[in-house]
Amino acid sequence: MSIRTKLILFILTLLTAISAVTAFLFLHNEWASISSNSQKKNLQVLLSMSEVCKEIHGAPGKSSAYKYFKAFLKSPEIIKVSCSGPGGRVFMEERYHSPAQIPLRYYFKNFSPPLTGVWETSSDNGVEILRASLTARSRGAEITASVDFSTQLIYQEMDSSLRRSSASFFIILSLAFAIGCAGTLIITRVIAGPIQAIAEAARIIGSGQLNHRVPVKSEDEMGRLALEFNRMADRLKEFDEMKRDFVSSITHDLRSPVTGIELCADIIRKLAEKRDYDRIPEQVFSINEHSQRLNRFIDSMLEVSKIESGKLNLTIKPVNLEDLVDRAVRAFRTYAAQKGLKLEFIVDGEVPDTRGDPDRLYQVLANVIGNAVKFTDSGSVSVFIETLPGWQKVRVCDTGIGIPPHELNNIFSKFYRISSGRREYPSARQGTGLGLFIAKYLIELHGGRIQAESGTGGSVFSVFLPS
Ligand SMILES: Nc1ncnc2c1ncn2[C@@H]1O[C@H](COP(=O)(O)OP(=O)(O)OP(=O)(O)O)[C@@H](O)[C@H]1O
Ligand SMILES: [Mg+2]
Repeated sequence: MSIRTKLILFILTLLTAISAVTAFLFLHNEWASISSNSQKKNLQVLLSMSEVCKEIHGAPGKSSAYKYFKAFLKSPEIIKVSCSGPGGRVFMEERYHSPAQIPLRYYFKNFSPPLTGVWETSSDNGVEILRASLTARSRGAEITASVDFSTQLIYQEMDSSLRRSSASFFIILSLAFAIGCAGTLIITRVIAGPIQAIAEAARIIGSGQLNHRVPVKSEDEMGRLALEFNRMADRLKEFDEMKRDFVSSITHDLRSPVTGIELCADIIRKLAEKRDYDRIPEQVFSINEHSQRLNRFIDSMLEVSKIESGKLNLTIKPVNLEDLVDRAVRAFRTYAAQKGLKLEFIVDGEVPDTRGDPDRLYQVLANVIGNAVKFTDSGSVSVFIETLPGWQKVRVCDTGIGIPPHELNNIFSKFYRISSGRREYPSARQGTGLGLFIAKYLIELHGGRIQAESGTGGSVFSVFLPS
């Protein structure tokens, strides 16, 4: 069942329940108010009757009292009125026949009588009667006024009042229900529409079409969801491209040293056949270089796996950062000289010892300085050490191709290399894209941080270590 159908069913059930409860409460309250009005009216009749009886008892010939007496009987629900004196002697009585009884629509019959007077129900020739009587004193004698109401007609009267008021109520309730249903359809479309679009987009992207995006039509939560979904799709596409680049680069990184070793071995074989032993050491040296490259690559992969399983530990001891940087700079002197780059190392004053894992710190510095040389074609690479309060900072500035500002954070991600499609990033320069990922992890493990900035015509990397 779709989310929209579920929403519609849920809201409709809710609407029906609310309507039913509202109708019940309305009928109940309306009946209570009609019933209380009817009681008041009946009591009023009884009180007036009592006054009339007193008057007739005092002055039997007074015609106005008789007039009232007869007037009561014009109300259809009053069947009989009477006045009786001491000993139950009836001195005035009028009786009318009850009109035809109409079946009731609502079967509420809970009628609680007023507190004044005596109210009792009985049956007179099959007609249900509510007999009300009230005793009062007149000229020293006790006289009782009694009125017989037809209960059926009282209920009938109440029933038709309820029918009148409920007709308009039910029309309004039906209108509200219809509007509620229309609103439900609109709301579910507004809510479920974007969800369906995102579900469809997820299906399309899942089928491999990574360029598909969800249209962002609003700025509300749904709009934000669509926006975040699109961002996620962008990242997915980036990762997909990275994976492709990585596979091609990893194949290159694995294949080129292996091919190099094969070539060298072939040359050695041919040299040996020609008994030209003098040139063999040069090829052995090349084989050594190739295998070292292969080893470095495998080491990086192993290190990432250690980082991810949390098994990479440091061996902390006192280290001198100046010595480490000096070693790393010297390691790249030949490479820099081959590229015609000036590689300088500038120390700002005395550098005190700090604590850290010297091998891991060297690894970080070698990667950052190596990157600077690798991505610089002309100009210089300058390495500085500065001592700040609480920190020792190594800054590596180059005049190379630089890093676009939006890539400054990405380059610390695993396997991330700035798009190989860019002309300035020839594949020969590429490594595995693991160097900075490992460097960041190691520096943070030391309690420090590493950051990259895009300088004018080059990049600046700063490594901070707690001193
Ligand atoms: N100094 C720099 N100038 C320009 N781009 C740089 C610089 N340093 C790093 N980068 C960019 O950041 C990416 C990630 O660097 P990182 O050191 O992680 O990987 P790598 O050098 O490509 O490979 P690895 O270090 O694993 O051999 C590089 O591929 C490069 O695109
Ligand atoms: Mg690197």
